[in-house]
Amino acid sequence: MTAAIIDGKQVAEEIREGVAKAVEKMVAEGGPRPGLATVLVGDNPASHTYVRMKRKACAEAGIESIHHELPADATQEKVEGLVRELNKDPKVHGILVQLPLPAGLDEEAVLRAIDIEKDVDGFHPINIGRLAQKGRDPLFVPCTPAGCIKLLKKAGAKLEGAKAVVLGRSNIVGMPAALLLVKENATVTICHSRTKNLAETCREADVLIAAIGRAEMVRGDWVKPGAYVIDVGINRVDDDTKKRGYRLVGDVAFEEAKEVAAAITPVPGGVGPMTIAMLLDATQRAAQRAMP
Ligand code: GUN
Repeated sequence: MTAAIIDGKQVAEEIREGVAKAVEKMVAEGGPRPGLATVLVGDNPASHTYVRMKRKACAEAGIESIHHELPADATQEKVEGLVRELNKDPKVHGILVQLPLPAGLDEEAVLRAIDIEKDVDGFHPINIGRLAQKGRDPLFVPCTPAGCIKLLKKAGAKLEGAKAVVLGRSNIVGMPAALLLVKENATVTICHSRTKNLAETCREADVLIAAIGRAEMVRGDWVKPGAYVIDVGINRVDDDTKKRGYRLVGDVAFEEAKEVAAAITPVPGGVGPMTIAMLLDATQRAAQRAMP
């Protein structure tokens, strides 16, 4: 079997166009122009790149981008104070504090300071808590895991009753992805660095989400024939044939896995573009919710 390649770039583009249309409709009807505040603390180069991409995407969707940068040695009070100011600002409908925060800052306290109505990243403990509980609905859910579920549905995966395996238990991807799969009535196993029999466990998965940050760790013979494979990993591997000296690969050995799976996301061009698309969608919904 050769897998269908799930085109995350295309799906993300469709979502972004939908958001842009919804924004213009809302504004034309007298509503507010949605505003997303980005908070970047310190000088992590990857975080700077991600925030720049998020701001550019906002502009393209007609969403106002309000950007704040704080130095790596900013105090806890300073960061939380900024978040509280943004909570009060009626032009700000969504607040995104880029993670990770520099060492020494209390990440949970910063995320807890965000008004849950503006928590477009879905990382506030109340939103995560609701995601973890039966019969409770968070206002927003984390963007990358939401993108994974969207791609699975687009690819035609049946989640209800499926055996799902999530590789990785991070707060940003693995754990919320597992919780979202439970909400979809899948039976979920979460694997991590201490899991025994990793390959066998993965081989049982009808749906496999790899978010472990290890280049091409999931081999073709870890994949159940006909499985749906979502690769969240973005890893650099040395490659002298490339001008920049490296290439990007996922957590899944793509060439091997695509011979076995029913559908698989590529890296790049799979999950990556979905994070920003889901963020824009959440920001537009946050502005809609704020309307009288
Ligand atoms: N760092 C890596 N991914 C994310 C994300 O989706 N949101 C935030 N705030 N920080 C991140």
